[in-house]
Amino acid sequence: MVYRYDCLVIGSGIAGMSFALKASRKGAKVAMICKTTPDEANTFYAQGGVASVTNLEVDNFEKHIHDTMVAGDWLSDPAAVEKVVTNAPDQIRELIGWGVDFDKNDDGKFDLHREGGHSEFRILHHADNTGAEIQTSLVEAVKNDPNIEVFENRFAVEIITQHHLGKIVTRRTPDITCYGAYVLNEDTGDVDTFLSKVTVMATGGVGSVYTTTTNPLIATGDGIAMVYRAKGTVSDMEFIQFHPTALYHPGDRPSFLITEAMRGYGAVLRNLDGEEFMHKYDPRLSLAPRDIVARAIDSEMKLHGTDHVYLDVTHKDPEETKRHFPNIYEKCLSLGIDITKDMIPVAPAAHYLCGGIKVNLDGESSINRLYAIGECSCTGLHGGNRLASNSLIEAVVYADAAARHAMDNINGYDWRDDVPEWNDEGTAHPEEMVLITQSEKEVNQIMGYYVGIVRSDLRLKRAWNRLDILYQETESLFKCSKPTRQLCELRNIINVAYLIMRQAMERKESRGLHFTVDYPHPDTP
Ligand code: FAD
Ligand code: SIN
Repeated sequence: MVYRYDCLVIGSGIAGMSFALKASRKGAKVAMICKTTPDEANTFYAQGGVASVTNLEVDNFEKHIHDTMVAGDWLSDPAAVEKVVTNAPDQIRELIGWGVDFDKNDDGKFDLHREGGHSEFRILHHADNTGAEIQTSLVEAVKNDPNIEVFENRFAVEIITQHHLGKIVTRRTPDITCYGAYVLNEDTGDVDTFLSKVTVMATGGVGSVYTTTTNPLIATGDGIAMVYRAKGTVSDMEFIQFHPTALYHPGDRPSFLITEAMRGYGAVLRNLDGEEFMHKYDPRLSLAPRDIVARAIDSEMKLHGTDHVYLDVTHKDPEETKRHFPNIYEKCLSLGIDITKDMIPVAPAAHYLCGGIKVNLDGESSINRLYAIGECSCTGLHGGNRLASNSLIEAVVYADAAARHAMDNINGYDWRDDVPEWNDEGTAHPEEMVLITQSEKEVNQIMGYYVGIVRSDLRLKRAWNRLDILYQETESLFKCSKPTRQLCELRNIINVAYLIMRQAMERKESRGLHFTVDYPHPDTP
């Protein structure tokens, strides 16, 4: 089947949905596709909240900008930082307009939390399940919007460029242009052609490249892999953020998050002997930026030969703890841990990708008519490490910029009539699913063992050699198979793992989230 829309939005998280709502407001007909249901997205799982300067009595833009630059180890792009920080309050108003409810105090002001690396209390939240509040409000707004058509169980396989019109496209080809995407309909097994005037990649993160992750399993970096294969620019992939405090409960995938806001509230990290340890690593103790806390925990676990540490909130008022963290309280209780009396076992887990599809201040990628927003994009905001709660706000600020830019230019574009339909002649359904699931586990293990919190040249080289075998096998399988979601996801996590490794090998220094024992210091202070 062939579909035609003004805008094709791939992804139904905060980034994709806010773009769709904004483009629709300007009259565009939008197709929004998601690989399962509209609410299954990283956005749904966000806990801590959304960073924005709102309490002007003590806070200001300069402080938020400074905190972001410090967390990013001074690799952030100052223009992107200023853009996000200064546009944040307006975008908070947009979210509220779409029905998002942020907690307020009795005096009617926002109840603000604080997280690692923030010099002020500036995190707006909805108890400890802010993401679910945002996701459900936006899904409702999208469903009520007559200009937006939502396609569930649709998997974007490749974006369409001149390559599909028989032209040779290399990384040096100027003016690569996107005309839409080939999309697998999981209900029929067919690959449909979605033609669009502009295409928006909003496919979220890459946590599923690792075994231990806070991300839902759909986070397989599909958009990044598609853009890379289409010869678009992808950068900063070495900066994988490990959240220091995922609940340690072996076998859980994804790992349940214990929000950093709990440390902002006063929770303290302890080793298995019950001793505090953060003073050995950073004067900001448990509220140091995430890279430092995650490395400190990793080091303590290696020192003591344990696979977790503890987060202790037992000294705080039990009723207040339950009121602030009802979701975490219930989840832990269901596993026999009463957080008001027991310490919480925690360990780091892959959480967030700072890099991705390189975009400019309008969210444009290096491929014409293709925007990238949200976690799959690399705007330059995060530099070497993301400041907590800066990603939801980045997604909505860049969705706004991209929607404005796209709608200002869309009249100059048309649909291509000469795009061929997906050709799967001579292919068959993959016979043995186990080949795919086993390869996926191998990628996860390679990444966990060799491309985790602490890296070295030797580990990266070993990972590279092992991944190469999986790459060759999977590409051969893909060439003779009808695409399935599982096979495409495997192909994508291999592509993403390759990019993380290659860009990690290229960075000959330790900076932000990238720490290697062979180059333990930053190149420049
Ligand atoms: P997502 O919300 O992940 O949406 C991705 C969408 O793309 C999904 O709809 C998916 O179906 C679709 N998709 C992907 N691939 C395909 C494909 N091939 N075809 C079709 N559709 C596809 N950030 C904060 O700022 N504050 C927080 O408190 C916070 N807490 C977090 C807690 C957890 C547990 C996690 C995992 C993340 C947290 N983050 C937080 C990070 C933040 O949630 C994400 O960065 C953000 O939600 C990403 O939004 P997105 O719209 O870019 O992608
Ligand atoms: C958290 O609540 O700790 C997650 C916040 C974030 O990832 O920004």
